[in-house]
Amino acid sequence: MLPTLRTERLRLDAATDSDIDALWAIWREPDVRRYPWDDAAIERPVFVDAIGRSESLASGGIGMWTIRVATAPDPVGAVALVPVGHAPPRDLGPGPHVELIYSLSRRFWGRGLAREAIAAVVGYAFDTLALRRLVAVVDVPNAASHRSLLRTGFRRTGDSDGPKHRLAWYALAAPEASPDRTWPEEARE
Ligand SMILES: CC(C)(COP(=O)(O)OP(=O)(O)OC[C@H]1O[C@@H](n2cnc3c(N)ncnc32)[C@H](O)[C@@H]1OP(=O)(O)O)[C@@H](O)C(=O)NCCC(=O)NCCS
Repeated sequence: MLPTLRTERLRLDAATDSDIDALWAIWREPDVRRYPWDDAAIERPVFVDAIGRSESLASGGIGMWTIRVATAPDPVGAVALVPVGHAPPRDLGPGPHVELIYSLSRRFWGRGLAREAIAAVVGYAFDTLALRRLVAVVDVPNAASHRSLLRTGFRRTGDSDGPKHRLAWYALAAPEASPDRTWPEEARE
């Protein structure tokens, strides 16, 4: 089970089946699905699969968290660590790599919440999992996502072709190695 992560304004909990409908509603919002889902209104079973995959990753310490604010009972978004889903450019180096993904309901954009959630998960990835590096993949026109990554210390490392738009690849290295931590071996270099 993923640990609950807390920040000044947010609570991040492991996403479970009980979150499916709230998160599915967010991922169908036109502004949210535009880039991660190439503007397709994803069907519920696809989303149920995504949650199931996330739960199956939890034994390795990665998967999906819901994002909650104190003022709303339902999740306002999600943030996840997953195995990289696109073919990386060659200059990314040997994999497999762990990818950071994130989304917020449109009503909650522009308040620095994504930055706060990303920082919490990055801290967990480096401090608890001892990953040496995280990657993120952004559709080139997705301006808000580029800003969110740059604001949390990620640097653009290369581009590759994507299903609809060119993809920009970002990486963030752990501030220091943590040799005493052991998981996941494949993400350590
Ligand atoms: C990406 C996303 C999570 C950002 O959420 P957010 O909470 O609004 O982001 P923040 O408020 O933390 O802002 C982070 C930066 O993005 C900038 N930003 C936010 N919305 C923006 C927009 N529409 N256009 C350009 N920049 C934008 C902010 O100004 C801020 O940069 P700054 O600190 O230099 O001013 C949100 O836009 C989203 O859910 N998008 C749809 C899903 C998605 O594309 N996910 C990424 C791929 S996995």
